[in-house]
Amino acid sequence: MKIPFVSFLPLEKELDKELRDAFERVYTRSWYIEGEEDKAFEKAFAEYCGVKYAVGSGNGLDALMLALKALGIKEGDEVIVPSNTYIATALAVTYVGATPVLVEPDIKTFNINPALIEEKITSKTKAIMPVHLYGQACDMDPIMEIAKKHDLYVVEDCAQAHGATYKGRKVGTFGDAAGFSFYPGKNLGALGDAGATITNNEALADMVRALGNYGSDYKYHHIYKGNNSRLDELQAAFLSAKLPILDKVNEDRRRIANAYSAGIKNAKVILPYVKEECVPVWHIYAVRCDARDELEKYLKDLGIGTNKHYPIPMHLQECYKDLGLKEGDLPIAEEISRTELSLPLYYGMTDEQIQFVIDSINNF
Ligand SMILES: Cc1ncc(COP(=O)(O)O)c(C=O)c1O
Repeated sequence: MKIPFVSFLPLEKELDKELRDAFERVYTRSWYIEGEEDKAFEKAFAEYCGVKYAVGSGNGLDALMLALKALGIKEGDEVIVPSNTYIATALAVTYVGATPVLVEPDIKTFNINPALIEEKITSKTKAIMPVHLYGQACDMDPIMEIAKKHDLYVVEDCAQAHGATYKGRKVGTFGDAAGFSFYPGKNLGALGDAGATITNNEALADMVRALGNYGSDYKYHHIYKGNNSRLDELQAAFLSAKLPILDKVNEDRRRIANAYSAGIKNAKVILPYVKEECVPVWHIYAVRCDARDELEKYLKDLGIGTNKHYPIPMHLQECYKDLGLKEGDLPIAEEISRTELSLPLYYGMTDEQIQFVIDSINNF
């Protein structure tokens, strides 16, 4: 049986008419940038998240970067980020000229360990960027307490966690702002690149919008030296077609993850841990295994696609040599990169496919 790591086909089949209608609507209107689709999606997405404002952007990296820029974070500042995340979190900090300061995760949840944040705070620290990795919320109560105590901004990286909750509250609503990615493989994915910044702060939302639109508050009037990073009308229309079933998609992902958690019984494989106060949306189902590469090959030979998130920890990436960190400096991030394997998980996976993955792992 062939099981890809990810497939968009079941979702696209279910929403075939809505997605084609979305294209037709935009194409017929012949208006592609800054139009009513963008406005409608931003309004619906803000409502979904439970915040006042959503500002669309070209991708998730820009959604984060523009939020940091609008908060005034700049060269000479430091921003706390987790050591185990996709590199975009740190790149957003680098792009505004600040320095990412890496804090180790809790190996059980894979998320930033709040107990290790304070020792990394200096007089230059301006913000904390918790990443709700793999679809599970970070431990937001202690993070918000630390931020309050040290007068720091909090910018949540929600790229992998659309709709995930912590103590019943959706991610993205805790900090000053949050960035989402709508990369096609995300829980809410466009048919190309797209992103959004959300916030309850009107002035911040206006500034993010202006910064992503050449720094202009109205046409040909430039108040900042901005970027060009806008959510285009086609992607906004596709996202509006998919948003109404995001909760259903997340529920389906929980069906698959719960089946894995109940069915996989192999002493060599450590299953993901869910904190009681969290309802994850399972962007990634991450297991750990000492013989990870062997498991990966074994599953591949059986036709099961997997992935690694992430094979090289950020501090050992060539581009971040300037952080001055070496192998052994962040042992938990390194351990995760050495042992983590992501199992296939996508909307519409059949029970038969799920069972085949479970049986295969149990026979490893
Ligand atoms: C944790 C995290 N942050 C940021 C991003 C950046 O999003 P994008 O690919 O839309 O730029 C991603 C996804 O790629 C991500 O997984």
